[in-house]
Amino acid sequence: MKQILITGGAGYIGSHTAVALVNAGYEPIIVDNFSNSNKNVLIGLEKILGSPVKCHEGDCNDREFMQSVFRENDIQGVIHFAASKAVGESTKIPLTYYSNNINSLIILLEVMKDHSVKDIVFSSSCTVYGQPDELPVKESTPRKDAESPYGNTKKICEDILTDHIKSGAATRVAALRYFNPVGAHPSSLIGELPLGVPANLIPFITQTGAGIREKITVFGDDYDTLDGTCIRDYIHVMDLADAHVKSIHYLAAQPDNFFDLFNVGTGNGNTVMEVIKAFEKVSGKPLNYEIGPRRSGDIEKVWANTDKVTNILGWEPQYGLEDALRDAWNWQVSLEK
Ligand code: NAD
Ligand code: WQD
Repeated sequence: MKQILITGGAGYIGSHTAVALVNAGYEPIIVDNFSNSNKNVLIGLEKILGSPVKCHEGDCNDREFMQSVFRENDIQGVIHFAASKAVGESTKIPLTYYSNNINSLIILLEVMKDHSVKDIVFSSSCTVYGQPDELPVKESTPRKDAESPYGNTKKICEDILTDHIKSGAATRVAALRYFNPVGAHPSSLIGELPLGVPANLIPFITQTGAGIREKITVFGDDYDTLDGTCIRDYIHVMDLADAHVKSIHYLAAQPDNFFDLFNVGTGNGNTVMEVIKAFEKVSGKPLNYEIGPRRSGDIEKVWANTDKVTNILGWEPQYGLEDALRDAWNWQVSLEK
């Protein structure tokens, strides 16, 4: 069975990708330092899959540790999720973000070269587009100056990968620009586990629905959209996981020294109010919300043009917004049990 290393594999998107990899006949090998995840994820994975997933606990910035992971396994490709991801926090501790997100990629590329591993799927983000001049946004739409140190690390990592390929490296890269990943595995055995007060919309909604938060503030209703609230492209994490499996499969068929990037979103945008209404529908619960001021740095509207990922990777989303909110809600309810 082909072994695929997933750095950050105990995290939100990584854990769902571990499931998708097993279902597609690959063996995931997780590396995680559990800085933003919990070891219970491994129990959830074992319950879903019926057998344990191999996990090496350690830091991607520890070169010797990474060398040992590559020595002990027969890794054929890598999906690099490990990163610090909180936009607000990145403005307070930018050096930690630059160090963790950039060094880990450089070390990984060097260790991959030492072990002749060619294929890497990189977690990028629609944040690199800022507020794009055209919608839906295409891969060819120019990137904007980053709004945060976090966003800048994603731009820099994309640039590192393109420069690495330009240098002639025998590496094959797929950079995936995720839109807004939401939802959970339908079993409710794994899902998103934000530490502290969630910064993101869906966990804030589900925690409010569960009574953990008193109310949710909608950040602004005076934007140039249908109902005045911001638009995002919310993609079910199971669909996103599947895009990684398709990317791994695709890279294996490419020539050496290859780079491509893909938007991974649904192609549809929804306003914050539409999300709240959809949550109320699937949960059967009225949500306590209020309209507040705009959040600084927020993008007004963004959603993906998905022609490329559909035409080249043969990927299409299987889940809709209501599915994602139902699964996120069931996951939240399971956490209370
Ligand atoms: P997450 O925090 O749930 O998962 C990341 C995992 O990486 C965590 O388990 C954490 O413990 C681990 N980790 C972090 N630094 C590490 C290190 N140095 N060594 C080993 N493990 C380390 O985040 P996620 O939502 O699953 O995001 C995965 C990737 O996708 C990240 O690169 C993130 O920037 C990117 N991304 C996420 C979103 C989103 O909204 N969730 C959107 C776009 C891009
Ligand atoms: C979605 C919408 C908020 C919370 C962030 C990162 C981005 C990417 C995805 C990684 C916005 C509104 C939210 C709340 C609200 N991550 N909102 N009340 O801002 O699209 O992107 O996560 O790469 O880089 O910036 O996601 O979930 O924070 O917000 O009204 O309590 O919900 O204003 O319109 P965002 P989000």
